[in-house]
Amino acid sequence: MTNMHVIDRGEGNPLVWIHGFPLSSLIFEPQLGIANVRHIVPDLPGFGDSPSSAIGSIDDYASKVAALLRERGISRAVFAGVSMGGYITFSIARNHPGLVAGLILIDTREVPDTPEAKQNRRNAIGRVESEGTGFLVDEMLPKMLTATTLATADRRTEIVQSSMQSASSAGVKAALEAMASRRDSTEVLRSFEGPVLVVVGEDDEITPPADAERMSSIARDATLVRIDDAAHLSNVERPDKVNAAVRRFLDAIS
Ligand code: MLT
Repeated sequence: MTNMHVIDRGEGNPLVWIHGFPLSSLIFEPQLGIANVRHIVPDLPGFGDSPSSAIGSIDDYASKVAALLRERGISRAVFAGVSMGGYITFSIARNHPGLVAGLILIDTREVPDTPEAKQNRRNAIGRVESEGTGFLVDEMLPKMLTATTLATADRRTEIVQSSMQSASSAGVKAALEAMASRRDSTEVLRSFEGPVLVVVGEDDEITPPADAERMSSIARDATLVRIDDAAHLSNVERPDKVNAAVRRFLDAIS
């Protein structure tokens, strides 16, 4: 058993949602209303309601998700990854290509960390060891949603805050190391033969629109959707627009 908490809801072709860092399946609450699909939404090890487990790399998360799908008898699905979830989605396409019917890449990038970004992650691991994960929530929240949305303090802010608060120190440290050591996925994206939807918040500072433009120019069959009034978690901030783009994408490939 993979021992991951998972939401498995709805009927239709499977759509696997993979959350970002340091978040949980809760960030996809606004997507669960998309009809006529089977939503599979795991909490990655050490996040949300999933216990942490031995994770050394992004490929390890991908293997866990692939095993979870095998357990549920799913042999093919569309994968939607937000940020770190996108890195994992690329790894699934690299290592388990037969599973992937289409890719939805939300506020993510295909390239690996710069040496500086790797160093920052390793410094953050040291800080988590000495002070816990609270500083990450404080530093990341203002980048996840726009200032306007944060000021309204509605369900969107609550979703992001509570998913961040459910992250364990062990899960956070494993994810930081996994992201720091991740491979370049440019060739995975270039050689992927299925359809790709790229979504980005216009105000995303972590994975800005330039990343999304580059990904959609590399992929063979890509549609780019830019979401205004949205920062890094465009699916949480503007579910109306993101869900409509996902619906169009699914309808076009079914
Ligand atoms: C995420 O949202 O998953 C992270 O911000 C990604 C990253 O730090 O590269």
